[in-house]
Amino acid sequence: MRQKIVAGNWKMNTTPAEGVALASELAKRAAEIPSDVKLIVAPPFTHLTSVQAAIAGTKIELSSQNCALQPKGAYTGEVSAAMVAGTGAAWVILGHSERREYFCEDNAMLLEKIHQAFACGLKVIYCMGESLEQRESGVLWDFLKSQITEVLYNLDSLKDVVVAYEPIWAIGTGKTASNEQAQEVHAFIRKTVAEKFGAEAADELTILYGGSCKPSNAKELFACPDIDGGLIGGASLKADDFLAIAKSY
Ligand code: PGA
Repeated sequence: MRQKIVAGNWKMNTTPAEGVALASELAKRAAEIPSDVKLIVAPPFTHLTSVQAAIAGTKIELSSQNCALQPKGAYTGEVSAAMVAGTGAAWVILGHSERREYFCEDNAMLLEKIHQAFACGLKVIYCMGESLEQRESGVLWDFLKSQITEVLYNLDSLKDVVVAYEPIWAIGTGKTASNEQAQEVHAFIRKTVAEKFGAEAADELTILYGGSCKPSNAKELFACPDIDGGLIGGASLKADDFLAIAKSY
């Protein structure tokens, strides 16, 4: 079944105390989350455990924003998928454009990270999306296709994958993709997935939109037939805004 998901990517924001305060407020107000919507929070590694304690007993689920390429060993500063899973997290975000751009993560690495995540029982929010230059220079569809074929096509199944389409030019810029632009790409992702995994698997794939999604535009984005929810950055740092987005279906 295609799920309705609203996931909050806190990025490198909040101290542990601030993160727990935000998670506690969401937990207190969990009754406001529509029953058919899954709410996920993705705090920094340092507060996964304490945020998990704050949301325990609610329907809110926990995600990390990344995991290491290797299972364990001499990789100073890295956090493995097993460590993430050990905090109680059910999800990991992989392939965010900030990871691709600032930390040089390419499709081959992301495929390996997905294998690491699966081996530890984590589900994956796989991010993809183009820069403005790619959109305007005519390589848009080839580029998006490569982010699907070089990663997702190499998996046995997409049952533990949610895709997030995040046009880079819309992330944190206040510039949202129009409903038409987002729907067009979401439909393309679903069609491309169907070519490898079949129509049924493609129909069941949850595809989120991300990039300046906020209470004022979530409703019309989520009304598009191939948009199943959102990956929310800035607006997930305020409980009011995040919950308002969750109520936007
Ligand atoms: P934004 O970020 O909502 O602040 O644009 C989205 C994301 O990067 O996941």
